[in-house]
Parts: sequence; structure tokens; C-alpha cells
Amino acid sequence: MKVKALRGMQDLLPEKQAIFRHITSCVGELLDTYGYRQIGLPLLESTHLFARLVGDSTEVVQKQMYTFEDKSGDDVTLRPEGTAGCVRAALEHGLTFNQVQRLWYAGPMFRYERPQKGRYRQFEQIGCECFGMAGPDIDAEMLLMLHRIWTSLGVRDDVNLELNTLGDTAARKRYSVALVDYFSPRSNQLDDDGRRLLKTNPLRILDSKHDGTKALLPDAPTLTTFVDDEARTHFDGLRRNLDQMQVPYVVNPRIVRGLDYYNRTVFEWTTDTLGSQSTVCGGGRYDRLVEELGGRAAPAVGFAMGLDRLALMLENKFVTPAEADVFIVSEPVARPQALVVAEKLRNWRTSLRVVTHCGDGKFKSQFKKADASGAKVAVIIGESEIQAGTVTVKPLRGQSDQQTVNESDMADLLAQWLE
Ligand code: HAM
Repeated sequence: MKVKALRGMQDLLPEKQAIFRHITSCVGELLDTYGYRQIGLPLLESTHLFARLVGDSTEVVQKQMYTFEDKSGDDVTLRPEGTAGCVRAALEHGLTFNQVQRLWYAGPMFRYERPQKGRYRQFEQIGCECFGMAGPDIDAEMLLMLHRIWTSLGVRDDVNLELNTLGDTAARKRYSVALVDYFSPRSNQLDDDGRRLLKTNPLRILDSKHDGTKALLPDAPTLTTFVDDEARTHFDGLRRNLDQMQVPYVVNPRIVRGLDYYNRTVFEWTTDTLGSQSTVCGGGRYDRLVEELGGRAAPAVGFAMGLDRLALMLENKFVTPAEADVFIVSEPVARPQALVVAEKLRNWRTSLRVVTHCGDGKFKSQFKKADASGAKVAVIIGESEIQAGTVTVKPLRGQSDQQTVNESDMADLLAQWLE
């Protein structure tokens, strides 16, 4: 029986992996310019961490976690998201104590979801978390930074920012009660999930994809009327900042987010280009979480973007870099010299991609490989070149003729043809 990858787990073949790498380096460089510092976090954490911080009643914790007992009997979970682990690490290493921090992380997350285009069981995120800043200015800076990231990835015109404020805990509780009062007499129009949420997490009913439930939403109470004055002032401050910086957004009172830790600002960047898995980035404030895990209270805000979804958006725009700039073709007797010449070329230009033919192969098949590699130039080394201390340089694109030159003149010739 053939062994295949597990459902929802993708192999990233080189073309796709190149897009992921492009996104990570582009985003990483931009995060540097805003003072974010990268942090590495474990893939495996105590199950308790997610149950407590992400929320017992969330779909992620109830249905989607890869949880198992390890060999010492500890209850552990493959991280379904990065915020809980980042808060844990920040507390464990005293990073939030009287300090301001801008941190980022990248890597795989795991959720046992129903796989489809843009939704996988292992997926990549880049996330940012900021600790110690209470005002709306950091929320605004974060959104401004994301706006710049979309511009630099070339997807700015394909994404839209949707914003909401959840208010503070008391406001959300009052709103939850109002939702229960509204939906309970109409519970026969909800699906099973909706009826479950009515008991565990009424706000999440607003996210439902079920037609009967959606039909009830226009008349449902809106969160806006329950939000407290302080949260409203915070939200107005954020909007003023965004208006001033000309970052376009719409206020969408139905954005509640799927994880329990948010308060005040929440946001999602969505796209029309991906079908149903349309959210490419989501985040918001979570001012109570640090305290909830036993730390001294520290305000916090963050987001995570989904690389798999961004990669799908870039698929038709991204030009995969060629495998090689220079391909070295050689006779078997010249192979050691070919390796030496290749090293010299890598010393000459550190980012030059040099591929040396290894193993058997006649010149003809080596040239086929050279052509397929995308290299602009082949360097040919045979017995006669070794004896004369020369190399033959052959342009693979364009009309110029090949030239045999002393090895010491090779770089000058390549410099012309590699431009
Ligand atoms: P999230 O909304 O659950 O938030 O995930 C963030 C992004 O990860 C989504 O917008 C989506 O692009 C991507 N994503 C989520 N699930 C999948 C999946 N199954 N397949 C592919 N992509 C997926 C969080 O994870 C929060 N920790 C964000 C945050 C950080 N909030 C504050 N700080």
C-alpha cells in the first residue's frame, strides 16, 4: 500500500515553497523596520494553555485540536494558533514586566478542520503580538503596517479591512444576554451548532454560515449599542488615525472572531479572490490575557496572517526564480576542476546560483539540463580546457557566440552575460 500525506497536510513543492519563502522574507524585512523582533515558539504546548486562553467553548478548542498524551502522561496539543504560546513565553521570560514589546513569529499551526482550498489541517502563519501599549495608536500602527505589507506583496488592491469593536467584558456579557433573549424563542430556526452556541458562546452565532440562522441576523441586536464609552473612545481614536493615514476600512459590526480572548478592537482582512476561505489575516486586542495567565496586567494587541491563503493569491503573480544562473557542464575527467571553478564563482558573487552537473551524462544531456535550469550561461570544462587552463563560456539565451578564455578572465566575461 502506498503511503500518502495525511488529509489536510500539504507538501510544498519547490515552486510553492518559493512563494512562501518570498512572503516570509518580504514580511520579515518589513516587520524589522517597525521594530518587531522575531521569537521562536514550541509547536507543542500543554493542552491546558489553549483551553484556558483560547477558550473552552470555542470551536478550535472543542473540535479542532490535535491533542494527545505524551509518553510521560502529560496532556499536550499541537498549537492551533500562536497567541497563547507567545503570551506564555512572554510571561515565562518576564518580557511583559514594565516593558513594551513588539514580537513576531512564523511557522505551522494545526487545526483538525474540514480541508478545502485555502483551509488545511497544517497551515502557516506569521503573527505579531505587542505587549504593554494600551492606546489606539498601536492598533493603528499595526493596521498601517499590514497595509504596507499588502502593498509590498502586490495584493493591496485585492484585500479589504473590516473593523469592529467588541467593547469590554461587561459590554460583551450584556450583549450575550441580549442575543440569548433574541435567539432562544427562535431556536427552532437555528441548526444544531447554533443551538449549542446559544448555551456556550452566543456571539459566535453571528458568524454562522447556516441559511436559517443568517435569515435571523438582520433583526438581531447589534453589539454597537452595547459598547461602553471607553471602548467607543478607543475605537474612535483608531478610526481617526486610519482616516488620517488614508488606510481604507469598513466597520462591520458582525466581526466577532472565533477565539475568546478579544476585547475592544477586532479586525479581519478579507479578499474576494479565494472563494469561501476569504480571511487572509485576523487579529485584535486581548487586554486581559496576560493577567489571566497569572501575570501582572498588560494590555496587548496582535494579528496573524495565513501564508497558505496569501500564497494562493500570489500564485499567478509570482515568477519562480530560476534554479541556476550559471550551469557547469564538464567531462568526467574535468569534474574535480568543475567543482573548483564553481566554488570560485560562488566566492566571486555570493548570491550567484551555480549548479554543477554531477554523475554520468553526455554533453548533450548536460546541456538539456542546463537549459531547463533557467541558467543564462554555461561554463564548459573538458580535457582540453584543463590542459590549457581555460574555460569555455557559452551564453544559453541570446545570440552571442561561445568564447574560450583563461580561467582568470572568466568573471569579466560572465559579468557581461549575467546582466
Ligand atoms: P485566526 O483568525 O484563527 O487568528 O487565524 C489567522 C489567520 O490564519 C486566518 O485569517 C487565516 O488566514 C489563517 N488560517 C486559520 N486557519 C486556517 C486553516 N485551517 N488553513 C489555512 N489558513 C488558516 C489567530 O490565529 C490569532 N492567533 C490571531 C491573533 C494574533 N490575534 C491576536 N494576535
